[in-house]
Formats: sequence, structure tokens, C-alpha cells
Amino acid sequence: MTTMDLPDSAEVDASIKLITDNAQRIFVWNYDRSRGQLVTLYNKAMSSQWNSITELDWDTDVDPERLVLDATQPNITVTLARAAADVPGSPIASWGDAQFTELGVEALKASLSQFMHGEQGAMMTAAKIVETVPWIDAKYYASTQTMDEARHTEVFAKYLHTKLGEAYPMSPFLEGQITDLLEDSRWDIAYLGMQIVIESLALAAFGQMHRSTQEPLLKKLLRYVMADEARHVAFGVLSLAEYYQDLSSAELKERQDFLIDATIRNKARSTTPEMWERMGVNLDVLMPFLLEGATTLDQSLFTTFEHGFFAKLVPNVRKLGLLDANDGYLRKEWEKVGIMGFDTGDDTSADYDTYDAVAQDRAAATA
Ligand SMILES: [Fe+2]
Ligand SMILES: [Fe+2]
Repeated sequence: MTTMDLPDSAEVDASIKLITDNAQRIFVWNYDRSRGQLVTLYNKAMSSQWNSITELDWDTDVDPERLVLDATQPNITVTLARAAADVPGSPIASWGDAQFTELGVEALKASLSQFMHGEQGAMMTAAKIVETVPWIDAKYYASTQTMDEARHTEVFAKYLHTKLGEAYPMSPFLEGQITDLLEDSRWDIAYLGMQIVIESLALAAFGQMHRSTQEPLLKKLLRYVMADEARHVAFGVLSLAEYYQDLSSAELKERQDFLIDATIRNKARSTTPEMWERMGVNLDVLMPFLLEGATTLDQSLFTTFEHGFFAKLVPNVRKLGLLDANDGYLRKEWEKVGIMGFDTGDDTSADYDTYDAVAQDRAAATA
């Protein structure tokens, strides 16, 4: 198909989404390998590539209900639904174990669907970084990340398709976040938004599912994906720590505001309303019961995930110099909402190697 016969807008809406990138592509003529830490990271990325066909056992039998029933931690959506069912007048008051298990399966499909769509967004963001970053070492590294994210998209799509059934659409919240990054004219904002914010979020979400699931294929798949993601965060930290040294206070303030938007002002959760539709429940009718039910639950259920996220995010942002720039503007904003408890952790540029499950498995196999 040539550009002359792009599908009309009705067809475009159904199967693809068009995004216009406002950033300029950069060709560089300096091929010197001057950034030693990025060279190390690139070499590491090449040696820890894994093959999604031969290194994962796709013959594993997966029973979706067992996936829910055998999980070591109850699914938060199911826990919330059980609480909502107990509220007087609840539209799901008659639900029994069978329905709650079915909801658990749908909730898992919804999470894996968001992982899959997010990974496609990560693949495109990494490709944008290849095109827009002004350093050859970063272009090389981002190329390996593009391959990693292709593999992640592919394995989540395959797991959903071959083991669980129909995927869900991308949540509007996640779609909006990633679209903004792909459109932005400043190359470092794609880095900051993807490598630092969304990758930290993904590491927390994958880690939570990895700890909870007993299913060996999903467990190994998540472990290998996380090994790659830790490198991606490290790439963001190493690159931006250098770039931000030379920005003005006003430019740094823009980046600090971006992080405040991404963490505080923009607190919408990635819910999947379609999940409730598939269960035959009208979410508008159910919502007040979910909210009421939530008040009866141990609130730590809701904060565990956020802890995982901020424990990664805060040390990485500190390493970029963004916590303390402009008289600690970001630090003060985050202190107001209680996020600063995580300031003491290691940043990922230092500890990514400890997550390299691929290298660990290979070392064990040859030992
Ligand atoms: Fe990924
Ligand atoms: Fe990634």
C-alpha cells in the first residue's frame, strides 16, 4: 500500500492509531565510544538477549482458573469485588466462588493486556530515542532496547492469545501517557517518561505478578522481562544524569513539573471497564459499592503496589538531580504527599546487574 491510499479515517479508528512525533531526528558524525557506562550496558544487553521461542516452554499447560486459585496473593480486583458484594443492596450480592474466580481470570487478562499494549508503546519510544538522542552510544543501546521491547510485546501477546483468550483494549490512561511521550518535541521527555516513570511502574507491576503466580511459564516469562527492564531503567538514569547537568534551572523545573504531573496530579488508575462488561456488570451501578467496600478493607492492600513503584522511582530521580534542583522543589512536593520515605534506596544504575535472571540461569546451566 502506498501513502496515496491510506485507509479512510473510519478504518484507521478501528485498527490503528496515528501519532505525529514533533521531535527532530538526529544523525551524528562522532562515532567515538566516549560513554563507558553506556558501552558496558550495551555489551550487557547483547550478551543477555534471550530467545522467546527456545527459552520459554510454550507447551506448558495453563489452566486459567488454577492461575487464579493457586496465586499466593489474592487478586486485588477480586478482593475488592468480594467486599463490594457484602455491601447491602450490592448488584453482585448473589455472586459465588465461581463468579469471583471468573472475575480473577478476567482481571489477569486485563493486566496482561495493559502489559502488552504498554510494551508496544515502549518499543516505539525506544525507537524514537534511537532517532532523536544526540549520542552514538545511546543510539546503539536504544536499538537493543527496541528489540527487547519487541520481544516483550510478542511474549505477552502470545501468552494471552494461546493460554488465556481475548485481550482487552489499552486503558485510556496508559494510552494518553504514552501518546504524549511519542508526540513530545524534547527528546529527553520520552526518556524521562518511559525509562524512568513507566519502566519503574512496570517493574513494580511485573514484580507483583511474578511473586504471586505459581504458573511456571508466566513466572519465567516475567522474570526474563524484568531482567531486561532493569537495564532499561539504568539506561535512562545514566543518560539523563549526564544531560541534566547542563540544563538551566527553568529547564529543570519543566522536568520536575513533568514528574509531579506523572505521579501526583495524574493519579487516575488504569482500570479496565470492559472487564466488568464481560462479567455482565454495569460498572456505573457497581462503582458506589466498590468504593464503599474498599473502605472496609485493609488499606495496605492498596499501598503495597505504590510502595514498589516509588521505591524504584525516587532513588532514580534523586540520581538525576531532579529532587534537589530549584531548592528542592520536587522533594518538597513529594514530601507533602508522603512519597519521600523512599529516598534511601539504591538507584537502578548501580543495581541492574542483580536482576539479570538470564545471565544467572546461563551461569547455573554451565556450572
Ligand atoms: Fe519491556
Ligand atoms: Fe523496557
